[in-house]
Amino acid sequence: MDMNIALLPGDGIGPEITKQAVEVLKKVADKFGHKVTFTEELIGGCAIDATGSPLPQETVEACKKADAVFLGAVGGPKWDNLDGATRPEAGLLGIRKELGLFANLRPAKLFPELSSACFLRPDIVKDGIDVMVVRELTGGIYFGQPQGQEERDGVRYGYNTMVYNEDEVRRIARIAFEAAMKRDKRVCSVDKANVLEVSRLWRAVVEEVATEYPEVELSHMYVDNAAMQLVRDPNQFDVIVTGNLFGDILSDEAAVITGSIGMLPSASLNKSGTGLFEPIHGSAPDIAGQNKANPLASILSMAMMLRHSFNLVKEANAIEAAVQKVLREGYRTGDIMSEGETLVGCNTMGNLVVERL
Ligand code: NAD
Ligand code: IPM
Ligand code: MN
Repeated sequence: MDMNIALLPGDGIGPEITKQAVEVLKKVADKFGHKVTFTEELIGGCAIDATGSPLPQETVEACKKADAVFLGAVGGPKWDNLDGATRPEAGLLGIRKELGLFANLRPAKLFPELSSACFLRPDIVKDGIDVMVVRELTGGIYFGQPQGQEERDGVRYGYNTMVYNEDEVRRIARIAFEAAMKRDKRVCSVDKANVLEVSRLWRAVVEEVATEYPEVELSHMYVDNAAMQLVRDPNQFDVIVTGNLFGDILSDEAAVITGSIGMLPSASLNKSGTGLFEPIHGSAPDIAGQNKANPLASILSMAMMLRHSFNLVKEANAIEAAVQKVLREGYRTGDIMSEGETLVGCNTMGNLVVERL
C-alpha cells in the first residue's frame, strides 16, 4: 500500500516523539512491503515564528491532500501571551475544524507490564484498565459563539458558549455505540445535565441513538462523579462518550491511571477520508529538548493510524506487540520508571521498539 502522510511535528517535545514514531512506521512499512512518503509542515508556535500564523494555508492544503495526518504537539511558554486566535493552540483547533475531525478516540489501556507505574492500588487494577474515551472534538464550548472579552460599565467580562445541536450529538453518539459494539457493549454518557441545558439536550439525543443499538447498555453519569469514579473503579467503564471540554479533562485523567500521559494515543476522525493521529499530551516544555520524553503515546498513535486510516490491522498489532515487548524487558522513560527497571531516553525507547519489530 502507498501511504502519503502529512507530518506536523510542532513544538516542544513534538519533534522528538514524532521522529521516533516515524522511524517505527518506516520499519513497519519496510517489513510489510508498504511505501510511505512524508510531507513535513508547520503548525503551532514554530509556524507562528516562521510565517506569523499558527496554521499556514500550505499546511491545511497538505493535510487535505494527504491520506492521513500525524501530529506531535503544539504550544509553549514563548507564545502564551498571544491572544486566542493567534496562539499555537489555535492551529490545532483550526486543523481539527478544517478536516471536520469531530470524533476523537482516546483509548486508555493499562499494559500489565506497567501496573507498578499505575497510581491506583493493585487490587483496583488487577484486571487491567481498558476504557475508550470518545470525545466530541469540533463543537461544544471550544467553538461555541459568542465568545470573547469585553468591558461593560467598567467591569471586564470573559465568556464562552457551550452549545451542541442534535446532529452533532447524534453523530458522536453513533461513533461511541459503534465502538462499544466491538468491545464490551457498554456506553456511559458523561454530562452535567443536572445543571446545563446543553447537557439535557445531549442526554436526550444519546437516549434516542441508544434505541438503534439494543444490544448496548447505556448509562449516564455527571462529569464530577465520572472524574471520581474513573480513579475509584476504572473497570466499571467500557466506552465513555462526552463533549469536547469534559473529554479533554477526563482523558488526561484516564491517561495517568494507565501509568503516564506519555502512554495515551489518539485518533481524530471525520465522516470519511483523512484522520489525524496524535498523542493526547502536550508539548511538555519542562522536558523539551532533553531526550526525556516518552515516545510511546506517539508510537501507539502510529498504530492507530494504520488501523483506522489504512485498515492495516496486522501492522498495527505488530507495533503494539513491540511496545509491549520493550516494556516487558523492563525499559522505561522517566515518567513510567519504577525501581529495578532500566531508565532510557526518548531516542533509545524509539530504537528499542524499532528493533523489536
Ligand atoms: P503537557 O501534556 O505538555 O505536560 C503535562 C506534564 O506531563 C508535564 O510535566 C510534562 O513533562 C508531562 N508529559 C507530557 N507528555 C509527556 C511525555 N511524552 N513523556 C513524559 N512526560 C510527559 O501539558 P501542559 O504542560 O499543560 O501544556 C504544555 C503546552 O502544551 C501548552 O502550551 C498546551 O497548550 C500544549 N498542549 C498541546 C497539546 C497538543 O498539541 N495536542 C495537548 C495538551 C497541551
Ligand atoms: C488536547 C489539547 C488541546 C485540546 C489544546 C492544546 C487545544 O489539550 O489535544 O487534549 O484542548 O483539545
Ligand atoms: Mn488535552
